[in-house]
Amino acid sequence: MNDSIKSVVLTEEQIQERCKALGKQITEDYKGKTPICVGILKGSIMFMADLIKNIETHVEIDFMDVSSYHGGTESTGEVKILKDLSTSVDNRDVIIIEDILETGTTLNSIVDLLKYRNCNSIEIVTLLDKPMKRKVDIEAKYVGEKIPDEFVVGYGLDFAEKYRNLPYIGTLKPEIYQ
Ligand code: XMP
Ligand code: MG
Repeated sequence: MNDSIKSVVLTEEQIQERCKALGKQITEDYKGKTPICVGILKGSIMFMADLIKNIETHVEIDFMDVSSYHGGTESTGEVKILKDLSTSVDNRDVIIIEDILETGTTLNSIVDLLKYRNCNSIEIVTLLDKPMKRKVDIEAKYVGEKIPDEFVVGYGLDFAEKYRNLPYIGTLKPEIYQ
């Protein structure tokens, strides 16, 4: 295990199980449709790659980079669009793929924007959910795992841009971020 990790929250095997189960559900719900899977950069890249391998209907993929975090471990509530979609979502079924849902501010602004752009439907899939931290009224239809309010890294998630490459999700030792 990495020296900076205090405890493992989801192992590689557990993550793959979640991806299989979520992929199966999405396959059933989108039969005969071709949704656009929108990955929210950068945190969702590993989850997106593993999840879509388990979706057995046609999908298109695209990415948005939206930032509400500025290097620390607390959300600032401020949302900036750093990279927009390259596909039109007009009349399309959109599935937003997120690493973690916390206050909900990030996803709420994205959902508002895509609704304004006239998508046909919009659902959220998130690997992790911290329901206790929610500030706005938003829920993901597909959730991999509900976790308590502790800062996590790995499998795409970072602390100051590091630890994204860990193949599992874990909590950081407090001395790393204090
Ligand atoms: P909100 O509060 O808008 O936040 O729902 C969602 C975004 O905040 C980041 N985030 C985290 N990143 N470990 C991280 O590495 C965490 O524990 C954590 N909690 C929130 C993440 O980028 C997510 O998209
Ligand atoms: Mg993110």
